[in-house]
Parts: sequence; structure tokens; C-alpha cells
Amino acid sequence: MTKSRGVVLLLFVLAGCTNDKVTNSPDSFSIIPKPVTLTPGNGFFKLSDRITIAHSKEGNMSASFLVDYFKDKKISAKLTSDLKKENQIELSVLQDEAFKKEGYRLVVNTNGVLIQASTDAGLFYGVQSLIQILSDNGKQIPFVEITDAPRFSYRGLHLDVGRHMFSIDFIKKYIDLMARHKFNRFHWHLTEDQGWRIEIKKYPKLQEIAAYRKETLIGHGGNPKNYDGAKYGGFYSQQEIKEVVQYAANRHVTIIPEIELPGHSLAALSAYPDLGCTGGPYEAATKWGVFEEVYCAGKENTFKFLENVLDEVMELFPGEYIHIGGDECPKASWKKCTYCQKRIKDEGLKDEHELQSYFIQRIEKYVNSRGKQIIGWDEILEGGLAPNATVMSWRGEAGGIAAAKQNHPVIMTPGNWCYLDHYQDTTKTEPLAIGGFTPVHEVCAYEPLPPQLFESETKFILGAQGNVWTEYMKTSDHVEYMVYPRACALAEVVWSPKESRDYNDFLQRMQKHFFRLDAWKVNSANHIRKEIK
Ligand code: ACM
Ligand code: ZN
Repeated sequence: MTKSRGVVLLLFVLAGCTNDKVTNSPDSFSIIPKPVTLTPGNGFFKLSDRITIAHSKEGNMSASFLVDYFKDKKISAKLTSDLKKENQIELSVLQDEAFKKEGYRLVVNTNGVLIQASTDAGLFYGVQSLIQILSDNGKQIPFVEITDAPRFSYRGLHLDVGRHMFSIDFIKKYIDLMARHKFNRFHWHLTEDQGWRIEIKKYPKLQEIAAYRKETLIGHGGNPKNYDGAKYGGFYSQQEIKEVVQYAANRHVTIIPEIELPGHSLAALSAYPDLGCTGGPYEAATKWGVFEEVYCAGKENTFKFLENVLDEVMELFPGEYIHIGGDECPKASWKKCTYCQKRIKDEGLKDEHELQSYFIQRIEKYVNSRGKQIIGWDEILEGGLAPNATVMSWRGEAGGIAAAKQNHPVIMTPGNWCYLDHYQDTTKTEPLAIGGFTPVHEVCAYEPLPPQLFESETKFILGAQGNVWTEYMKTSDHVEYMVYPRACALAEVVWSPKESRDYNDFLQRMQKHFFRLDAWKVNSANHIRKEIK
């Protein structure tokens, strides 16, 4: 046989299928998050070393993602637009009402592999399920039919890069792992008391000064407090941010940037002290907590600065939402400030809480005027909610319930279930954490729709999010340890039907999933590995 004929034959793609009389069990799949329905069939479809992926035009991104997956495995795959052939992987976008927006149907049978959806996002999630099946089964894909769609439209993970910062490569890995678990919103917490991490071209001192702190508290502190004496910091350039935004978009992840205001702003004040009530001097925080030095709500300069910052931020992030913080803003400096007190008087405000509300509403108006919406932590309810704001409920669920009852969209992130910086185990060998205790089974048990809401109000709950505050996470390995496998449990909370969620079933599927996490080089915590009851 000539070499070229060999190549042609090899290009003839898939080796075909076997139809052994084997009933695959649901355990052969162990997909996380659990799909809505999964019906195993009898037999296997066998992939050859040369794979053809046929896709309709709208499925281009998912098809390319799958090609890259095979490339990583040193398996070549070619793309074609020639649908409806046998022995191939077909990704088809259909305008069929039966498919929910991010839903998909995945069928593996004697004909090959077929993924159908009404959007590329749906195909992408079908591809993620296929990849999980492939990673357990190699080239023998068990016959199956899956129909699937997410329970919630907002499925988020957050990462604080203010307290500790992580490389662009790690941010991409974090997003990649999110996508593999069908999360679709990355809340990137970019500014903090301890460091400002996003390049803003109009304000170079944010890069020169606000991006750095002179040293960092060791451990939880104590008395006296010990510091490491090492300057710490850095920032992401706008070019890097654009790269990350595109990387995320290719995985159907929208990034929500957070620019904290009016509190958690000490690093910004260290660079531009005029923006504070006293005029400073200020320096970026070297320990953790809540600081009284916040943006002055009386000076016009403050709003000009924030509007200019937001202009650059909104240009970089194409998503609908900008997170403006709003949490933990002490009012002590506003109480003593003549500018702030004059603002209260001029605007006819009752007190400093209404001044905070004035602050947020003014920023909201600006963000809305640019065609975007704001999200704020639940403190933005105090003193009156901005008219179009979405509320992120973190101090329990009360803020989320109150906001939903006022017909405002809500994202649930209550500490007891969704704070992945809490301890996950009681053993003495656990790495230092901020406190709290949120083991995997608690995350798994979280129900984002509170019983206090009427059925008609539940539509305001867009979904839930896991938060990852990094005071005590200096390395990306440590972040992964805190996030996985708890994020796997959260993925089920926001994706899988409520009635199908079951901790023991999750534990069972996790045993396989741990091997996938290993293959993806995730430094996951292993407390629940092999803990099948
Ligand atoms: C928060 O955890 N301060 C939102
Ligand atoms: Zn002031």
C-alpha cells in the first residue's frame, strides 16, 4: 500500500462500532454536574486514531475546543461541515424549541456520536459531558443518550486577586476548570485594600503605587502582629486582560469584573489620596479586615475618578455586568468629613447609609448610561436599593430574599454554603484558613431558592456562586485545594435538577471524577475520596 493511500484510508476516520450485548450502567458515566436524564445503551462506539468532527457553522467554537482536547491527547481530529454521515462526531445546532438555551442532547450509538443543541453554548456543554465520558473510557465510548439543561442561568465562581495574585496562566486554568464543570460566570475581584490589580491607563499611579503593599501579615496575626517584610504586588495589563476575556469567551464563560467602592479602597487611596475624606497619607493595607479609610462621597473628584476607571473597565469586559462591591463600608470617616456632611445636607439625605445609597445609585446611573448593569454585595440594600441593581447575597440569604421581594435579580452566595475560603475539614493538618466550616456535603446540600419566596418571586434568583477570598491562599495550589472538590458540588447545585441531587450519589460519581481532576492536574482536597457510604 502506498503511503498516500494509507493516509487516505487513515483519513477515513473512525474505525466503526461494536455492538456487544453489554448493558452499560449509569456508573459507567459519572458525569459531574449530573445531567437531567441519562439512559445507557447496549454496546460501545469505538473511535479510531483519526477522528472527524462534523459541525454546523454555529458550532464552530465547540468543535475547535474538541479538536484541541484531542490534540492534547496526541490524537488528530479534522473538522468538516459534512453533517449526517456515520462514524463521526457530529455537533449540530438546531433551531428546535425543545432545546433550552444552554441545553443539549448527546447520543452515542452505532452511528457515532451526535450532540445537538440550539446554541453553541449547549453544544459546548454536550462536549464537556463527552470529554468526561472519554476520559474514563478511552476510545470505547459506551452507548448512551443524555438530555440536559442547566437549572440556573447564573453559575458562578469568584476569585479574589487583591489579597494574593495569581499568574495569567493560572487564571486561564481556573476558567478552564470552571467550563469543565459548566460554570458560566467568573467574578474577578480586581481591587482591594491590599492591592489594585487592573491596569488603568488614565491613572498610572494605580500601577506604580496601588498595586503594591510594603509587606504582609504572617498567619492570623496575634499580639504582637508579625509581618514578612516583603513588598508584594503586581497587576494585570490591559493586554493580558483582553487575552483572558477572549479565553473565557471561547469557553462560554463571561467575566464579571469587580471594582470595589466605596469601601475596600485603601490601595487606590494610597495612590490618589485626594479621593479620601482626609486627603491622607494612606498606604495599601498589610493586614486583613475592614478599614475606615474609604472613598469620600462628598468630593466630585471621587466620582470623576471612578467614572474614568469604569470607562476603561467597561471597554475591556464585554459582559452585561460590572460588580461595584458595596460591602463593608464603615461610615466613620464620612461622619467626620465636611464634604460628606455637605453632600448629605445638599441631597436631603437622612444619614450616612443614605449617603452610601446615593453613592451606589450615582455609579449605577453612570454604568447604565453605558448600557451595562451593576451587581453589588447585599449591603447595597441599606439606605435604599439602586433602581436596576442585581444583589449578591453573602451575609446569609436575607439580603437575597429582600431584594427578590423588591423584584430585583439576585445571586445567592451565602457564607455557610458558598464560601470556599472556609475550612472544609476539622483535621489539624488542614492549611490555615480564614475560619468557618463548610465541608463538601454542606455545599452539596445548598438550595438556592429559599422557602420564604413565593413561586412568583423565585424567578429573581438567577443562580449561585462560590466565593474564593485569598487572604490565606498564597499559591495557586492552595486555591485549587480550597476550590476542588467543593466547586464540583456547587456545579451540581446550580446545574442539576433539585430532585435528582443526592450526596451519596454525588460521592460515588466523585470517585471517578477525582481521576479526571488528577488528569487535569488539579491539586484537589481528598477528604471525600473513597468515602462511599
Ligand atoms: C464579602 O465577603 N465581604 C462580600
Ligand atoms: Zn468625605
